[in-house]
Amino acid sequence: MKNLVSDILNENTKSLIKSSPIYQILDNKFHANKLAVAGKRLDICANELAIYLLHVGSKKYVLRDKVCLEIGSGWLLTHSLLFYLLGAKKIYATDIEPLLQNEYIAKAVSKSVNWSILDSLSTFEDRELIKYRLEKLLSVKNFTVEKLQEFGIEYIAPIDLSQRMPSEEKIDFIFSKSVLEHVPVDDVVPLCENLISGLSKDGFMFHLIHLSDHRDLFNKPFDFLIYPQEEYSRYLQTRWGNRIRRSQWQQIFSNFKDLNFKFLFEWSCNDKSLPDKIDSCIQYTDEADLRISHIGVYMTRKDG
Ligand SMILES: C[S@@+](CC[C@H](N)C(=O)[O-])C[C@H]1O[C@@H](n2cnc3c(N)ncnc32)[C@H](O)[C@@H]1O
Repeated sequence: MKNLVSDILNENTKSLIKSSPIYQILDNKFHANKLAVAGKRLDICANELAIYLLHVGSKKYVLRDKVCLEIGSGWLLTHSLLFYLLGAKKIYATDIEPLLQNEYIAKAVSKSVNWSILDSLSTFEDRELIKYRLEKLLSVKNFTVEKLQEFGIEYIAPIDLSQRMPSEEKIDFIFSKSVLEHVPVDDVVPLCENLISGLSKDGFMFHLIHLSDHRDLFNKPFDFLIYPQEEYSRYLQTRWGNRIRRSQWQQIFSNFKDLNFKFLFEWSCNDKSLPDKIDSCIQYTDEADLRISHIGVYMTRKDG
């Protein structure tokens, strides 16, 4: 009993500290500093983007002179830097929360292995031009929001794309990585409607959607499936994930009459157990559907 009370007190104290503005500022900086030499390093993301573009079937000059939009660009907007390297003329890097920690962007660039960036991207743009642009990025010590504009990158946050697009301008390429699963279920359709109507006729989208429980991605990727809808608030949907399974995403995308879409790849998590009981509010077809952990979705307009 004593332990339970002290656990609850500990939990309450922890969440009080975590919700304080000073904690959040420091936590965002700490996180960005870590990401800059890990998953958001420029060479790692270049490799990742190249894989996505190969799945899409993209060719040379795919982003040259194009207008791009990154949804949920996060702490370092590394993918937006890659769109610049591939020759995009304008890049809207957007986020629902102003998470960007621009003082760590230079680290994500300078800690990269340059030849790996060139090798990953050269299928999609002239190597010499990528090199020239990369040198320009490497010369920057502090990527202020003004400096980013010199590379065609406009950082816009906070913005809720389920309410409005960042510009009237049509977008040629819309990208998101680990973002759509954070959008509350009620906002998914309005968000997709805005994206589809903002996409240029020949434009395309790629979204990597990560369907696992973000509370403990590696050990308990399915635990969030136990909660009834009324206990699973918008806040939890944003934090832990909206719990939409692959078949439900398919249903949602099929309902847009102007949209062509294709799941380019999907991965499953088969080495962790499912909860004994899945709440009845979760829409799914079978166990395989529940276990899908990632989907890569390609989208174009039907009139394109
Ligand atoms: C896991 S982070 C991924 C960040 C970045 N894409 C990356 O790969 O590092 C999730 C991102 O989604 C954003 N996000 C959460 N809810 C969103 C919403 N409703 N609309 C747009 N972005 C959202 C967060 O602010 C955050 O930047």
